[in-house]
Amino acid sequence: MLHPHLRSNTDITHRQLEKQFISNLQSVNSPEDYEGFLKTIAAFLLPMEEVLHQFPLKTLIPAIDARKRSKDLLEDIRHYDKNWELMQTASLPPILTIYHAIGALYVLEGSTLGGPFIAKMIRKQTGLDSTLLYFENYQEKRKAMWNKFRMALDQSALQPHTETITASAICCFTAYQKWLEINNKPSYAKNSNSSM
Ligand code: HEM
Repeated sequence: MLHPHLRSNTDITHRQLEKQFISNLQSVNSPEDYEGFLKTIAAFLLPMEEVLHQFPLKTLIPAIDARKRSKDLLEDIRHYDKNWELMQTASLPPILTIYHAIGALYVLEGSTLGGPFIAKMIRKQTGLDSTLLYFENYQEKRKAMWNKFRMALDQSALQPHTETITASAICCFTAYQKWLEINNKPSYAKNSNSSM
């Protein structure tokens, strides 16, 4: 089955990304840092989501439109910087077919599971008590959304493409990790590029 294969074969890259993410989060110690950090991740996540949704995912993945999370990320950023637009984008992994798109979507959907832990860290370090829309995405539907997604991964139509999907997920984890690594700043408030 695809999901268990994906999970075990991306475990190392997930752990590397998680470690990098936590390292970057250590510089998020104020609402201004949080704003800068959101802009950094947006440079990867916004174009990534746009590329993915150019493929006809609807027939394979349930509630595909509800899985678009750019809107929440933009709303979080524009709470601080109301006219913000993305000017610089990260280097994205190649998404050439719908199977590459599924692999990358696995990475983005799975990240909703770590979201509450990340939100808790941000709240603790910044003192923010408002909703963190992006990291607290799906809320009480989180488990159900993930279970439906997992079941969709295990449908027979995707099994012949297991290796392509897995390779794409690994590329996506790695590209995100590299982007965070080169944008790991001592303080996101002082160093955030206003154009990002
Ligand atoms: C501080 C950062 C992170 C923490 C603490 C974290 C934590 C977690 C946790 C607790 C799970 C659920 C594991 C389970 O139910 O067995 C999970 C799953 C997952 N996370 Fe993360 N995560 C982090 C960052 C990320 C990021 C940035 C991404 C991708 C953009 C990501 C992608 C995934 C994926 C794809 C899964 C699903 C694994 C599976 O197939 O079961 N995570 N994460």
